Amino acid sequence: MARTFFFIISFVFLIGAFLIGYFISPTFYYAFLILLPVFFLGVYDVLQKKHAILRNFPVIGHFRYLLESFRPEIMQYFVETNTEGRPFNRIYRSLIYQRAKNQTDTTPFGTQVDVYRPGHEWIDHSIYPKDAHKLDHNPKVMVGSSQCKQPYVCSIFNISAMSYGSLSNRAVEALNKGALLADFAHNTGEGGISPYHLKHNGDLIYQIGTGYFGCRSKEGRFSPEKFKKTVSAKQVKMIELKLSQGAKPGHGGILPAKKNTKEIAQIRGVEPHKAVHSPPFHKAFDSPEGLMQFIKQLRDLSEGRPVGFKLCIGKKQEFIDICLAIKKTGIFPDFIAIDGAEGGTGAAPVEFSDRIGMPYKDALAFVYNTLVAHDLKKEIKLFAAGKIVSGFQLARAFALGADVCYSARGMMMALGCIQALQCNSNTCPVGIATQNKQLIKGLNIEDKGHRVANYHKKTVSAFLELLAAAGLERSEQLERKHINRRINSTEFKTYEEIFPY
Ligand SMILES: Cc1cc2nc3c(=O)[nH]c(=O)nc-3n(C[C@H](O)[C@H](O)[C@H](O)COP(=O)(O)O)c2cc1C
Repeated sequence: MARTFFFIISFVFLIGAFLIGYFISPTFYYAFLILLPVFFLGVYDVLQKKHAILRNFPVIGHFRYLLESFRPEIMQYFVETNTEGRPFNRIYRSLIYQRAKNQTDTTPFGTQVDVYRPGHEWIDHSIYPKDAHKLDHNPKVMVGSSQCKQPYVCSIFNISAMSYGSLSNRAVEALNKGALLADFAHNTGEGGISPYHLKHNGDLIYQIGTGYFGCRSKEGRFSPEKFKKTVSAKQVKMIELKLSQGAKPGHGGILPAKKNTKEIAQIRGVEPHKAVHSPPFHKAFDSPEGLMQFIKQLRDLSEGRPVGFKLCIGKKQEFIDICLAIKKTGIFPDFIAIDGAEGGTGAAPVEFSDRIGMPYKDALAFVYNTLVAHDLKKEIKLFAAGKIVSGFQLARAFALGADVCYSARGMMMALGCIQALQCNSNTCPVGIATQNKQLIKGLNIEDKGHRVANYHKKTVSAFLELLAAAGLERSEQLERKHINRRINSTEFKTYEEIFPY
């Protein structure tokens, strides 16, 4: 129907333009400059075999693709409400931008959050609040078990793992500069340590994934010699062994071919311009005891730096088995980082992003309880990640048992990420999650480094104000009883009731 209509209209216009040009004025022949390309586009649409919509609706069908390509922008700019956007709604995105830019971060006229909606959470304040100004403005936690020779005094809020490769060189530099300026730590991600991680001298947590990038033998296995060399950099303060990541546990890593430039390939020790898949499993160990022995090997090779592991909880028994292995071997990891299913990534299959892994709050409560039950918590610090971007979210994680928090996407937004959701396509419009040189040019390291530092400082300071309002002075004083969650319109429970010790 639409096809026939297209051909009738096309012939009417083409013949009409010809007749008017012939009888009235040859100027009308210029109409062919538009009419002929449109006509041939329509003929092409009808003949091509890939898109039914174009075969049935020649020319006009292209508007569908055009509008579809603008959909995320239309949604974000015109449709989405302040509380709706995903993964981060506008309230949080604006809060991060304001804090990063050192702008006013207060809100007028009262909350926009529905405080009677099931799931709404709040912290108990005290009639006897403390003076927030008197609290340590960059509170820190000592990470290092009794077996660690070089404990690291770690800020309570740090940059979570994101590798050079998934992020641009300038993004990595700006993050590291921010870490230096505000005195906190920057996790390298599993892509090895690049010159951009080292340039500004911010503290690093060197992450090793299943690809062993930065400490990889030719066969793709762990190389003790290379590891020793890599961790000898003075910026490396801790080592994190990645078992899994919340956004895609059990999947391994993907570096898309487009992002695997010659330089990145050299840093990682792989072939350039090919998609790099890190396997989902480690080759260096295959049992809980093996994991502990490997942790000991890493600690020995790094002259006693703190070594921990990161995981998203899946089968609970497997974590219990790790605790048993710690007791059996007598080897303590210095920290355990819990990543939730709500975590971010550069690229992951939808099923893995949406339907696998335990969310971080459930996982953190479980891991804390299990460590306490096995009398291990006093040796091991707990790190947490999973959409922790505000002072309240820090407080909530500490109440559940975390000692230290990580943020990946919060820090990306401090760098200027606009949640364009293009991390997997090399087209990140703000030059953060891309290797496209033209796009990277837009990112100013100096300015964004300061923004990352501001965001860190202001978020920690917002947390301290909450802590003081609760009548407390240190993050470790927060307990599950201090946080409440609405269950239905007339009932709420404390975290202690929801996540019992
Ligand atoms: C672009 C990007 C790259 C990431 N790369 C890694 C990585 O190399 N290793 C890792 O363990 N986690 C990686 N993650 C996960 C984050 O470190 C973090 O655990 C997760 O996003 C949850 O934190 P968030 O909610 O603050 O983003 C990445 C996340 C993003 C957004």
